[in-house]
Amino acid sequence: MSARSYAKSNEALQRALKTIPLGSQTFSKSHQQFPQGAAPLFLDRGRGGRVWDIDGHEYVDLICGLLPVLLGYQDKDVDEAIIAQLGKGISFSLSTTLEFKLSEMLVDLIPCAEMVRYGKNGTDATSGAVRLARGFTGKDHIIALGYHGWQDWYIGATIKNLGIPKSTCALTTKVAYNDLDALRAEFKKFEGDVAAVIMEPMNTTDPQEGYLEAVKAMAHENGALLIFDEVITGFRFANGGAQVLFGVTPDLAAFGKAMGNGMPISALVGRADVMSLMDRIFYSSTFGGEALSLAASIAVIEKMQREPVVETLWKTGSWLAEETLKKIAEAGLAQNITLCGKAPWKILQFADHAHGSKEAIKTLFLKEMLAGGVLLAGSHNICYAHTKADMDHVLKAYTDALAVVKAALEKPGLDERLGIPPIHPVFSVR
Ligand SMILES: Cc1ncc(COP(=O)(O)O)c(C=O)c1O
Repeated sequence: MSARSYAKSNEALQRALKTIPLGSQTFSKSHQQFPQGAAPLFLDRGRGGRVWDIDGHEYVDLICGLLPVLLGYQDKDVDEAIIAQLGKGISFSLSTTLEFKLSEMLVDLIPCAEMVRYGKNGTDATSGAVRLARGFTGKDHIIALGYHGWQDWYIGATIKNLGIPKSTCALTTKVAYNDLDALRAEFKKFEGDVAAVIMEPMNTTDPQEGYLEAVKAMAHENGALLIFDEVITGFRFANGGAQVLFGVTPDLAAFGKAMGNGMPISALVGRADVMSLMDRIFYSSTFGGEALSLAASIAVIEKMQREPVVETLWKTGSWLAEETLKKIAEAGLAQNITLCGKAPWKILQFADHAHGSKEAIKTLFLKEMLAGGVLLAGSHNICYAHTKADMDHVLKAYTDALAVVKAALEKPGLDERLGIPPIHPVFSVR
């Protein structure tokens, strides 16, 4: 694969690091998560399903902003809605009617949604849900299954818990997905004190038959609430989220990412009797009703109802998953590279090879995909604007990248030969 120069990205990183710790606002977008010196680190613009970096290279984007870009960059309908609202104002001194226009749409769309409050990041919605569940049940302990954002109540249960009081860390514990025995044991261990089970309804693995129903029943038997974290699955697995796809309605749910096609907006939705307690807990912020994001979200949902957005994500994602799996098998790498999850968000998993660690395999693979013009971080984040030509481009890049990985694994010591440090995940939650 021809070497690309990332000179401007690398220079920009050095400049950014002088005034910005990590050089980025997001771990997953930072230099730590890409092949060192062999990756774009700063983007200039995007259109449809493609982006351009500051060195001028074009990519089919399979990161899509870490999943907010649902319709595509510069979506005409959403951008027009933002521009129209910009002509009126952004943040006002009182509420706007956009707030209930959107909440009415969410209530129509999402089974558990009887009432709605907004936030800016997914973390706002998950953290609000947890506080609400504690307020409603009068209990403290939280059982978590997945990734739920950067706040103390969740991060305290991970290895990235520096700066979080020990007493807070102890209040959240994690159990494995699809493991009802483990969940039962956790309820026993914290008997009478579990406020909620918060879970991604699905990430890498399909729920076993009856699993989500059983989690809900167990939560309720123990006087706890069930919270679905639909920050990724919402507006992606189905218009109303994974709760529509799987037919299980939680008490509360958190939405974010895709609902604004890139604008910062999230929503905490749920049962009216629980949500009503919002008047008594404290969930209040300056930008909760910021109007550009509300206008964008209304435009996103209207478009999703008018056009086959989710259907297209499934179709495009399925095609790409099937074709890439064939290429992986043809390269003899099926033991080392696999895809899991649902078609609109397929997650790549890497396994060690006798001649190289999974981290080294992933690093080399990403490096080659980037060189082939595909911006990829570890999952197929499909957007509505991805075209057949985009997908053909991705497949060609896969073919070339897999050939390089295959050749590299023919002799021992890939980690030493890689020439750059293998990428390690921030922490493993999926
Ligand atoms: C499932 C899930 N929940 C919550 C969050 C937190 O969202 P945010 O980063 O917008 O705060 C994320 C972010 O990646 C997520 O994937």
